[in-house]
Amino acid sequence: MKKGKVDALLGIVFGDEGKGKVVDCFTPQYDVVARFAGGPNAGHTIIFEGKKFVLRSIPSGIFDEGKLNIIGNGCVIAPDLFMAEAKELEAAGYDLRSRLHISKRAHLILPTHRVLDRAYEAAKGKSKVGTTGKGIGPTYSEKASRTGLRVGDMLENFDQKYAALKARHEQILKDLNYTDYDITDEEKLWMEGVEYMRTFPLTDTEIEINKYLREGKSVLAEGAQGTMLDIDHGTYPFVSSSSTICGGVCTGLGVAPLSIGEVFGIFKAYSTRVGAGPFPVELFDETGDKIRDIGHEYGAVTGRNRRCGWVDLVALKYAIMINGVTQLIMMKGDVLDTFDTIRVCVAYEKDGVTTTDMPYDTEGWKAVYKDVPGWKTDLTGITKEEEFPAAFASYIKYLETELETPITIVSVGPDRAQTIVRNK
Ligand code: GDP
Ligand code: IMO
Ligand code: MG
Repeated sequence: MKKGKVDALLGIVFGDEGKGKVVDCFTPQYDVVARFAGGPNAGHTIIFEGKKFVLRSIPSGIFDEGKLNIIGNGCVIAPDLFMAEAKELEAAGYDLRSRLHISKRAHLILPTHRVLDRAYEAAKGKSKVGTTGKGIGPTYSEKASRTGLRVGDMLENFDQKYAALKARHEQILKDLNYTDYDITDEEKLWMEGVEYMRTFPLTDTEIEINKYLREGKSVLAEGAQGTMLDIDHGTYPFVSSSSTICGGVCTGLGVAPLSIGEVFGIFKAYSTRVGAGPFPVELFDETGDKIRDIGHEYGAVTGRNRRCGWVDLVALKYAIMINGVTQLIMMKGDVLDTFDTIRVCVAYEKDGVTTTDMPYDTEGWKAVYKDVPGWKTDLTGITKEEEFPAAFASYIKYLETELETPITIVSVGPDRAQTIVRNK
């Protein structure tokens, strides 16, 4: 971490890599923690001192008093869900208004955006994305069409602007023949959320962040989703709708490319994916079920089963390239503790063609594997690198060599305490 720089912590596969846990661990080293993309489609789990929180829109640095947390301009925010999330933290004794600023430029997710999300998914038939249903796609589409409402709009003539946009959405829904919905209760809560949000500092966060950087303060940008869900570089169209990559830090916070310092790429010792779309390493057998059971691989937002498979070097190499990852963080090694053999996807194969470069269309490609021995040791109580079983140490070494990037942190359990910084 360098003073006056923005370090990025990015999920580099399909999300749910453990970003929340690591941001929480890193926060003491930083002055500011900022979310730059996504919204309540994210679910970031933090566990410490016997407490568990799942954050959706609020950055994972919120538990550290005296640190500023920012919801940046690249985010989308649903006032009702924000209120529920914030009230839970307030009930647990955290004072938010002194440490959370929200960008006036962040876009608002309306109740009708969520209906549109459902309507568009329904219209897609068999090619559904399997969205989280939080209105993410419709809200970012609206942003791009220059018709959206922003947090700053809450400060003036809001009711009129809201009514006009809602009427537009109702017309679209009518055109789609999607009329079987009732948002009466949801809308009431949403409006309460708007009132509640107005009591928070709604600010020009890009100006604030740049001022902090000029003063030599350090910023941690907390990614949401993962590189393979990025709107440009993911497995389109089975992606989310924001820029989840390192470039998204610049647009989503308003910071210049040269202000980026370290780029931490976070991944699991295996792979998961929620929702639809190509996933060449997916296991449909009992090994996949075993990873899901041991890893508790069920969505933090929707509770859906996460699809599970072995680690994917094709995806990881691609993500390291796209993001300029300088350090890797490997999570959930403990989940593989009981496996005799660990498989690593080293290439994709289709119709006799083998590639190690991420193909344009990942549909139909099969994983080519290399097998390495399992460590058959409980990692969860390990506190330093020297205690790693030899096979685990060589798994890490193998991945580092293949990925040409150091793995500087290894996580062996969900708790803050189960985090090992390596002697690099
Ligand atoms: P995020 O969206 O990237 O913040 O990740 P999620 O919170 O959606 O999913 C990660 C899940 O793995 C959470 O339930 C964490 O509590 C859990 N977790 C994080 N690190 C570890 C680890 O090293 N081992 C195990 N077993 N669980 C972990
Ligand atoms: P975190 O930050 C995993 C997936 C959805 C779906 C696709 C599009 O917790 O890692 P959306 O609702 O964004 O339009 O859904 O993206 N998705 C995630 N998968 N982790 C996430 O966030 C995700 N956010 C969205 O399952 O396939
Ligand atoms: Mg998650």
